[in-house]
Amino acid sequence: MSAEQQSLDGLEEEARRALAEVTTLPALADVRARFLGKKSALSGVLRGIGRLEGADRARVGEQANLVKERIEALVSARRDELGRGERERALSETRLDVTLPGLRAPRGGLHPITRIERDVVAFFTGLGFGVEEGPEVETQWHNFEALNMPPDHPARDMQATFFVDGGHVLRTHTSPVQIRTMSGRTPPFRFIAPGRVYRCDRSPRHSPMFHQVECFMVDENVSFADLKGILYAFQRHMMGADVELRFRSSYFPFTEPSAELDYRCLICRGAGCATCSQSGWIEAGGCGMIHPVVLEHCGIDPERWQGFAFGMTLDRAAMLRWGIPNIHLLFDGDVRVLEQI
Ligand code: PHE
Repeated sequence: MSAEQQSLDGLEEEARRALAEVTTLPALADVRARFLGKKSALSGVLRGIGRLEGADRARVGEQANLVKERIEALVSARRDELGRGERERALSETRLDVTLPGLRAPRGGLHPITRIERDVVAFFTGLGFGVEEGPEVETQWHNFEALNMPPDHPARDMQATFFVDGGHVLRTHTSPVQIRTMSGRTPPFRFIAPGRVYRCDRSPRHSPMFHQVECFMVDENVSFADLKGILYAFQRHMMGADVELRFRSSYFPFTEPSAELDYRCLICRGAGCATCSQSGWIEAGGCGMIHPVVLEHCGIDPERWQGFAFGMTLDRAAMLRWGIPNIHLLFDGDVRVLEQI
């Protein structure tokens, strides 16, 4: 047996063992180069064939090519195996568990004031009231004069006013929308006007910007009884069927007679607590029969038409409904607060 033949016999076996130990495709490429590459023993044998005698040349050549084919076949079989393994590993490493919950995109919600306001609008439109708006930068005439508060009227002090310029203020209440809505039109009227109002005031229960809804109705036979009836229905809708109301006589220049409306504290049911300052009652707003002078300012004959009006704070309703202790929590935009609502 020639030296070439001996080494050929061992080569296949050697390659088989080396391939069995290989675990990655790059390592497989190395093994292939070692056994089949230009510098491999096999290539050496093939290169040396030319120098052999005729009979040996044919035999060794045939055998060397056979061994080369076999090793090629072994390498390719191992490559298939490793490839399959790597594919499986890649698949299992990146496995998707489609039963896991997905990433939840944070979802916004309506602001508590918006929700209260929509509730108010839904209630009154259901009774046939229209919805009006007015500017937040308002003329002094609409905010005061037309509402029977001439320039030196002491009632102006009650409304801690932000002045914009000589003629304008940030509206201190929604009552000027009464004037804007009624001027130049003929009764009957049934309107509400929700919106932002401003007063120079700040405490846990007061914000310099807050929300009111104005409600007014003018017709030929409107009385205080209509006002009470609608206020009761409204407060039952907002606060629940068992709400208890109290009218206290009061004074507003633009209504006569005037009253303030309180409801029994929903937190302590009248026993007294921090929310109602131990009084058992919470102020809901002001109301009364529209003063004849206000109707005259709008070009309406007070001998023929009468009406009622009331103005109510929306912020306090939101605070009570969701148990918000401090009005500023409504406007600070803290998502942790809003998320609980
Ligand atoms: N505008 C008054 C206020 O804000 C409330 C009110 C409205 C009173 C309508 C009577 C009638 O204080």
